[in-house]
Amino acid sequence: MKEKRKIYNLTDSSLDNYNLLLNEAIFHNANGYIGIRYDFEEGYPDGYEITRSQYINGFYDYAEMKQAERLYGLPEKKQTMLDVADTQEIKLFIDGEQFSMFSGTLMDFQLYLDMDRGVTVREVKWQSPKGHEIALKITRMASLHQLPLFLIEYEIDPLEFRGEVIIESAHDGNVCNFADPDDPRTADRCEDYIIPESCEIKDGASYITSRTSRSGLEVCSCVKNVLSQKNQTEFLIDNNKTTCIMRTKANSGRKIKLVKYAVLCDSIRYSDCSMQAREELNKALSVSVSEHHRKHEGYLRNYWKNCRVEIDGDDELAQAVIFNMYQLNQSVSKDIFGNIAPKGLSGDGYEGQYFWDSEMFIQPFFTITNPAISKTLIESRYRQLDQARRNARILGHERGALYPWRTITGVECSGYFPSGSAQYHINGDIAYAIIAYYLATKDIEFIAEKGAEIIFETARMWIDTGNFYKGQFHINDVTGPDEYTCVVNDNYYTNALAQYHLRWAVKFYSMLKEAGRLDAVAKKIKFRKTEIRGFIKAAEAMYLPYDEELKINPQDDSFLRKKEWDIATIPRQNFPLLMHYHPLYIYRHRICKQADTVMAYFILEDAQSEETMRNSFLYYEKITTHDSSLSQPVFSIVAARLGMEEKAYKYFGDSAKLDLLNLYNNTEDGIHTANMAGTFLTIVYGFGGFRLKESGISFDPILPEKWKGYDFTISYENSRIKVDVGEKECIFSLEKGRSKRISVYGKSYRLKDKLIILRPSNEKEEKE
Ligand code: BGC
Repeated sequence: MKEKRKIYNLTDSSLDNYNLLLNEAIFHNANGYIGIRYDFEEGYPDGYEITRSQYINGFYDYAEMKQAERLYGLPEKKQTMLDVADTQEIKLFIDGEQFSMFSGTLMDFQLYLDMDRGVTVREVKWQSPKGHEIALKITRMASLHQLPLFLIEYEIDPLEFRGEVIIESAHDGNVCNFADPDDPRTADRCEDYIIPESCEIKDGASYITSRTSRSGLEVCSCVKNVLSQKNQTEFLIDNNKTTCIMRTKANSGRKIKLVKYAVLCDSIRYSDCSMQAREELNKALSVSVSEHHRKHEGYLRNYWKNCRVEIDGDDELAQAVIFNMYQLNQSVSKDIFGNIAPKGLSGDGYEGQYFWDSEMFIQPFFTITNPAISKTLIESRYRQLDQARRNARILGHERGALYPWRTITGVECSGYFPSGSAQYHINGDIAYAIIAYYLATKDIEFIAEKGAEIIFETARMWIDTGNFYKGQFHINDVTGPDEYTCVVNDNYYTNALAQYHLRWAVKFYSMLKEAGRLDAVAKKIKFRKTEIRGFIKAAEAMYLPYDEELKINPQDDSFLRKKEWDIATIPRQNFPLLMHYHPLYIYRHRICKQADTVMAYFILEDAQSEETMRNSFLYYEKITTHDSSLSQPVFSIVAARLGMEEKAYKYFGDSAKLDLLNLYNNTEDGIHTANMAGTFLTIVYGFGGFRLKESGISFDPILPEKWKGYDFTISYENSRIKVDVGEKECIFSLEKGRSKRISVYGKSYRLKDKLIILRPSNEKEEKE
């Protein structure tokens, strides 16, 4: 291991086409607003398949999604995140020969991601076919302090070479989204979503403004190349007026540095995006490059302070966790116009749409490390609330709001309703994330302003969807998180979460009433007191499936009646099952894609006895394929909760390196942000035994056998607490803010400065 806070490319197979595709995702640069896949600026030889793309979070067009049978209410179009103008290209010619990683001799090459500096760096020593040697260092950064800015520093050391050096830097508006018709997880067609409308060069900078075909959005990109030497430069506009090229000759006697400033501004955030882009470019040019780095690194330093995780005894694993947290910051929107997509801004997988991944995996990470981001994520859902109300009407509900399963602005973008719109649990997930934000911050003001409106509107959906039958409240024909079991009655996860959601709606109702803050929201959504009575009644009568014989919670009412399908008999190449079997064939079997009931135990552990959770865990473990990357972290957390330390460690290890080792064979489509957050949750909630409840915060740390220790920080009510877990003791330090009451191994303490607690002796056996 070179350094823990740097990720290096594997040098042996680094130029292999597939590895280059993986690099596009692993080494991409993003800041939550823009994302740029990692590509060699000079390009690749003909025949290489590459998905070179730049994205803006939440910037989309509509794509047709024709339904073969036009049943009522099925969406016929979806939103898809767009590939916007390419500002990466830089070509270098020395003595007439073009630099390429694929010609001449690569004498030295390394590519790395530096997670403290927040940059991707490529260093190359190259000998041209004619025998000229040069060294290059290329640094890329998506600025965290000026979000529209993407910088490339291109440094050329001509070494002994004396001759003509020509640099060509392009800005290309002629782009198209990636598509793979064979993979349901990516778009199936490549269309011209974005049409360049103007392309001009002014004062040495190029400006391209493009419009989307259907959504009526606009984006402007500006590029300026600044060279360390004064040179003769010419500009051309090419390619049917969609590409601007800057061509310059440099003097090879000295080192040459080109700084390429690119800014991207869209019409979602800015009323005049062309004007804004010009201003952003001027702003970027008015600051030195080192000042840009200083501010960018300052942001990151602060980020790392709040979400520190260290593992003593396994550097590779520690590096994987740091990488995962780095990617979460790169991916999450810093404003309310975006959210966080399953692939962040690193690829076209899932088309940049937002899912429950945001609320149930990623937001819990931010809620306890950076609550301001968590609040922004909720506000971005608040922005979608009107659309969610419309969505509820489409599905036949006269009141309330139903969030779509996958979306960019709030309209349902899932074409296959059994594992899409039927996942009503999304309403409970969003409510759960708001409640967790409240528990971590006690920000009742925000609940009064926005949170409660979402909570009440979404809670209404349970009442409208469910019904009483023989005194119990049932929620029928919905799909739980497990997408291999669809449209079922009484999914345990959904019902348990609905119960929690309804109870909290009642609590917030009382709290706001007491604070004199209820009227505004109640009036706005015509919320009546009788509805609260309905919430209480439904919550108390909520049916939660339980099987007396097996002493487990069946995933739903029909689950135990299904046919068995022994996972061990399925050929390895047939995973994930969704790519090899008809959905109906899968649905008829007792097999799970991901944690479903086990997920309910993670978030609502007080709803069942320890024994039921243990029996169920062991039951579902045997029939879960983990075909979704969201699954293993949850199994790890619940295993830790149930005292199965070895299992907790195994599930954690398998999932923490998912993207670095490409364990799901699809990292080329983008990183897996929910899984990444899951690794942090596994350390904090799993091994650290952290819980955030109404009664306060608690810890129940265990130490995996292979580690000497680990530490992490969490934020709670404006304080930051560092937890060090060692072989003999746990040390809790208050790093920031006021003293806090915490519970450790079931005992309550006041944490003022430092608290040292001995770990219970480790004589306990692996429990099963
Ligand atoms: C999972 C969903 C998840 C989606 C996006 C699917 O494979 O089954 O739970 O929301 O991926 O990550």
